[in-house]
Amino acid sequence: MFSIQPSTTDTQITRRHSVRAYKSDPVSSELLRHLLEMAAHAPSTTNSQPWKSYVLTGDSLKNLTHAVCTAFDTEPDKHHAEYPYYPDPPLEPYLSRRRKIGQNMYRLLDIAREDREKRRLQQRRNLEFFGAPAGILFTIHRQLPAINLIDYGAFFQTLMLSAKSHALDTCLQAYWSDYHRIIRDILPITPDEVVIAGMAIGYADPAAPVNQLITEREPVSSFATFLN
Ligand SMILES: Cc1cc2nc3c(=O)[nH]c(=O)nc-3n(C[C@H](O)[C@H](O)[C@H](O)COP(=O)(O)O)c2cc1C
Repeated sequence: MFSIQPSTTDTQITRRHSVRAYKSDPVSSELLRHLLEMAAHAPSTTNSQPWKSYVLTGDSLKNLTHAVCTAFDTEPDKHHAEYPYYPDPPLEPYLSRRRKIGQNMYRLLDIAREDREKRRLQQRRNLEFFGAPAGILFTIHRQLPAINLIDYGAFFQTLMLSAKSHALDTCLQAYWSDYHRIIRDILPITPDEVVIAGMAIGYADPAAPVNQLITEREPVSSFATFLN
């Protein structure tokens, strides 16, 4: 029977996972610039290239994470993204998939369902880029239509695969968009820009249990119809 050998690109694709604990080893500005240069090769609607990035390392990263963590601690429930994360009302099968990844992650972290404080602290790790030495925040012009978010998806995956090919790991984080008001106070983001996500970038901590989280995928037969 004909069998397809995975290509090197296929291998990078399957080896990429969201990493939520990092070693402190720095990532050079040159390498971060290179990853963004690669990401910008992504296709976009009429070549509109809607991406805008703010790259944070060193003091800029420390200052921002301090400010957002302070807001997280002192103003719970006061910060919300400018666009919804979840369908309202909840919709299956997406709700079940979301619950499953949450359950699997908290099981690896040994955090019980009822332990609200530990769950809160784990959520807060988002705002420290999970300890990564580099973080990027992404914005899009607020007048651009939804189709340009498709462009951003291609940009993100290209960035993450390029990072993987340089032994780096990543976690894309919509969580950051909740804190756009704090982020605006610190970064030179104009009122025209909507904060859509952040991304942690660094070298994975192989000893961290949370990094053992491997998410499942539905088979192709569940989402594709082949028509001859
Ligand atoms: C647009 C987007 C936003 C995400 N936001 C977060 C986030 O805020 N925090 C987080 O820990 N993971 C976040 N993730 C990671 C997803 O949970 C993860 O991609 C998904 O569970 C599949 O797992 P994998 O990336 O390990 O393959 C996000 C992923 C995407 C694509």
